[in-house]
Amino acid sequence: MTRIAVFASGRGSNFEALVAAERAGVFPGEIVLLLSDQPNAGALEIAAAHDIEGRVIETAKRRGRIDPDSEALYVEACRGAGVEWICLAGFMRIIGQPLLSAFTDRIVNIHPSLLPSFPGLDAQRQAWEYGVRVSGCTVHLVDAGMDTGPIILQQAVSVMEGESAGQLASRILAQEHKAYPEALRRVLTGAWHREGRRINFQKTEGESA
Ligand code: GAR
Repeated sequence: MTRIAVFASGRGSNFEALVAAERAGVFPGEIVLLLSDQPNAGALEIAAAHDIEGRVIETAKRRGRIDPDSEALYVEACRGAGVEWICLAGFMRIIGQPLLSAFTDRIVNIHPSLLPSFPGLDAQRQAWEYGVRVSGCTVHLVDAGMDTGPIILQQAVSVMEGESAGQLASRILAQEHKAYPEALRRVLTGAWHREGRRINFQKTEGESA
């Protein structure tokens, strides 16, 4: 079983969806650690409720980045717990070199838009204000940019006539909760390789050509 850490800054609904999926055997991994930069994150309570070790590692604010000293503590905590993959689930910090070098192509993020449109904060509102007819969510490998890494999976969500940005966000969130476990299943079970920005999955038996 692949040992997984989840990083979350907020309420933790994606973290909870990953825990539920793990326990239902959706992907061959075990979530062993929850790290948060926010002492009041709801995700910490979810970790406690599921007997998953939860820790807070606060970081100084540096234009959205984790400061290097704290980032070393994140690496140490993951290594100490034997973590092989990291899932960012509403972790509102840009990952830097210490984590990227320690877990190259082993850090995954979920973002609530169809990237490369609307990276950054409040993506659902950005898309709604722009007036797009289709938005959605993206699960991708993390690189040094903000929401720029190679895409594993995307799920489209049509914008409904007359709905608010908040209503769109909650319909996207419902899809995030399905897309994230499925993306993890794909990277943890399937043979795949990177070709530049592209991720190629080899077809498994039974899949049509
Ligand atoms: C989710 O919508 C996630 O996609 C988004 O934050 C929310 C966290 O909700 N992440 C980003 O915007 C990252 N750029 P949650 O704490 O309930 O999972």
